[in-house]
Amino acid sequence: MKRLVVFTGAGISAESGIKTFRDSNGLWEEHKIEDVATPQAWVKNPALVQEFYNQRRKNLLEAKPNAGHQAIAELQKYFNVQVITQNVDDLHERAGSQNVLHLHGELMKVRSSGYPELIYSVKGWEVKMGDLCEKGSQLRPHIVWFGEMVPEMDNAIELVQQADIFIVVGTSLNVYPAANLLDYASAEISKFYVDPNPDLVYNFADIKVIKQKAGIGLPDLADKLIKELFN
Ligand code: APR
Repeated sequence: MKRLVVFTGAGISAESGIKTFRDSNGLWEEHKIEDVATPQAWVKNPALVQEFYNQRRKNLLEAKPNAGHQAIAELQKYFNVQVITQNVDDLHERAGSQNVLHLHGELMKVRSSGYPELIYSVKGWEVKMGDLCEKGSQLRPHIVWFGEMVPEMDNAIELVQQADIFIVVGTSLNVYPAANLLDYASAEISKFYVDPNPDLVYNFADIKVIKQKAGIGLPDLADKLIKELFN
């Protein structure tokens, strides 16, 4: 089977009711990154940080995967599909995608602030100050904050290098090192970028830009790729 790598950002979950970050009304218009999504914020006001992620979790529990997530899961019947996502939601998994690498962590998990190898699934949406790991350290969101290392980056690069087809969906390509992933795809393979408002700062010479929402653009693209397989 051909290897298809799909690199997703917040835009793929927009039609599920999850806010993006940098669109108008995006999360970073309502919250300051430095107050809620940095290691310094966690030191200064951990309760505020917990509350920010509690609200994100509450919102996620009410959300469902959309036609974009489903199209990617459907492609698994025809391709060896690997999802690399910047998203911390679990909508790819809930749509049925089996191979999902989360570059920026996972909202439905927490980890010990003292023993980072201790990672737990969250039941419900609320994690409070005073909720501790089995060794007595405070639990923190299992999120890669601004200024922290991206531990999965090397694995993601390797997957992109092996891709036969590469699809980018719903990302403004503003955040590094994740945005660098595009540079690792082979020059010979087919590349697509599905986004209603694509970032065209990038050199898209060899990328087909599909200027549509994920819920429309991805099912169409999936049909096209499947038809090509049988021609
Ligand atoms: N379908 C597809 N794309 C969409 C849709 C949609 N329905 N709606 C919006 N978009 C696109 C926007 O046009 C934009 O290009 O999604 C993109 C969202 O960009 P950002 O808000 O910057 O999100 P993202 O690129 O995922 O951000 C990267 O930044 O804040 C950090 O860690 C956070 O993982 C996140 C990272």
